[in-house]
Amino acid sequence: MNFKNLTILIFSTFSLSVQAQQKMLTTNTGTPVGDNQDSKTVGPNGPVLLEDIHLVEKLAAFDRERIPERVVHARGAGAYGEFVASGDFSKFTSASLFSEKGKTTQVFVRFSTVMGGAASPETLRDPRGFAVKFYTEQGNYDIVGIHFPIFFIRDAIKFPDFVHALKVSPIYNKQDPNRIFNFFSHVPEATHMLTRLYTDNGIPANYRMMNGFGVHAFKWVNANGEVTYVKYTWKSLQGEKNLTADEATAIQGKDFQHATVDLNDNIKNQNYPSWELYVQMLKPEDLDKFDFNPLDDTKIWPDAIAKPVLVGKMTLNRLPRNYFEDVEESAFSPADMVPGIAPSEDKMLQGRLFSYFDTQRYRIGPNFQQLPVNAAKSEVNSYNQNGPMSNRGQSSDINFQPSTDPNGNVDNTKYNYPGATYTNVSTIQHKISKPNDFKQAGEFYRSLSELDKSHLVNNLSNDLSQVSDKNVVKKMVGYFYMADSDYGKRLASKLNLTREEVESVFKTN
Ligand code: HEM
Repeated sequence: MNFKNLTILIFSTFSLSVQAQQKMLTTNTGTPVGDNQDSKTVGPNGPVLLEDIHLVEKLAAFDRERIPERVVHARGAGAYGEFVASGDFSKFTSASLFSEKGKTTQVFVRFSTVMGGAASPETLRDPRGFAVKFYTEQGNYDIVGIHFPIFFIRDAIKFPDFVHALKVSPIYNKQDPNRIFNFFSHVPEATHMLTRLYTDNGIPANYRMMNGFGVHAFKWVNANGEVTYVKYTWKSLQGEKNLTADEATAIQGKDFQHATVDLNDNIKNQNYPSWELYVQMLKPEDLDKFDFNPLDDTKIWPDAIAKPVLVGKMTLNRLPRNYFEDVEESAFSPADMVPGIAPSEDKMLQGRLFSYFDTQRYRIGPNFQQLPVNAAKSEVNSYNQNGPMSNRGQSSDINFQPSTDPNGNVDNTKYNYPGATYTNVSTIQHKISKPNDFKQAGEFYRSLSELDKSHLVNNLSNDLSQVSDKNVVKKMVGYFYMADSDYGKRLASKLNLTREEVESVFKTN
């Protein structure tokens, strides 16, 4: 073979291999596209024709690229992985994912910030979402938590007001400490959460180096119907790392999406992040033994009353194939539960059971559970049908239950919701007993190092100093005083307030 022939051979092999990788551009219905650069016009200078189907379809698809962003937790990053149980917990729950040591369940996780929009910085002081979907053989189970062990408020009826106050102003389209503390000055139960939020823990360094919490109490129910109340903690095996306010500002100046980059890069480089899952347990008969209500999500369960027990380990090892399809269209809900797990009576959790599927029917569409990221890996044999984008592959004439069809789907009382006995059967709207709004906030404050205390006081007083209504500031400082007098005193001094001024606002209100 002479040189010229060899060149021709190499060239034609190369162009063949390029051709082999290239696919014909088509319309959505698979018809080949002739020209993707020039619209069809009447003559060289005439108007564009409506019959240019490809153009019309292309613009129409583009016009519909966005779905509503999540009403909270709009910015997020996700990854797939697996959860391996560390033992057999069937004594406490019939949930199969906790039924034997080494049992492996596939998971999808979405981390998020809460108050910012879909492209907001990941350096803001804000809880981080920590939502885990377990694809179990009994259907999907979601633990939709955050990186703090508690929450700001304890009743779902307050949630829309809370979010309105913390998101941007409806007039000025900006987040405003005046609005935020105006709200919180009426919510003493938030003292504990605000104390945690304003430490450096309010800005986790990234998603890998933060812990996660289910926050609420849930019920674990065994095969005999016996209930154990549990709380979940995810402990980062990368260790916990937070940012000071100055470090966060410096990072934000260079990169407002550093946490997404960190997660993606580490998984790409096979440095797979992992977390251990712990549960704390309380027996139903013990719930009333403490000076706080264990079903109040503004409270932790101290280790001394409920020792954390290791139940498994989660490792994230696969990036989403497509951000929109896997992360944006993912749908988590505390109502995604499996046999052996039930909601507690926590008033926040009860509201959440409704809110998530409701928002997802609006945000994604009523058949959102059929999308690959949300679809159960176990068989789905429901007789729910149709609706926009239904793709259930329903193939039987029997779409009702019960029926005489020997192949029809049957229900089984084995899977009844667990029963409960309530002695007070009248309906009522009242505050929970034992609100104890300040004690755990004070205990948390006193557990901090001197450096952490000074960061907390600086961070909090920086935001409070921007509030123009001094009565709001005094009320807030009063709450922190009630948590711990040193804490209140240091804040008052930073804000040039005397103790008498702080006390006065409680007397007049
Ligand atoms: C009654 C109180 C609450 C209500 C009504 C509520 C409602 C919502 C709604 C509507 C969404 C958007 C869901 C979506 O579009 O897919 C959401 C997301 C989320 N919420 Fe809540 N929420 C509440 C409290 C909480 C609490 C206490 C936690 C933590 C324990 C929490 C953690 C999350 C997380 C992690 C997400 C993001 C899930 C994801 O990554 O897709 N929420 N919440």
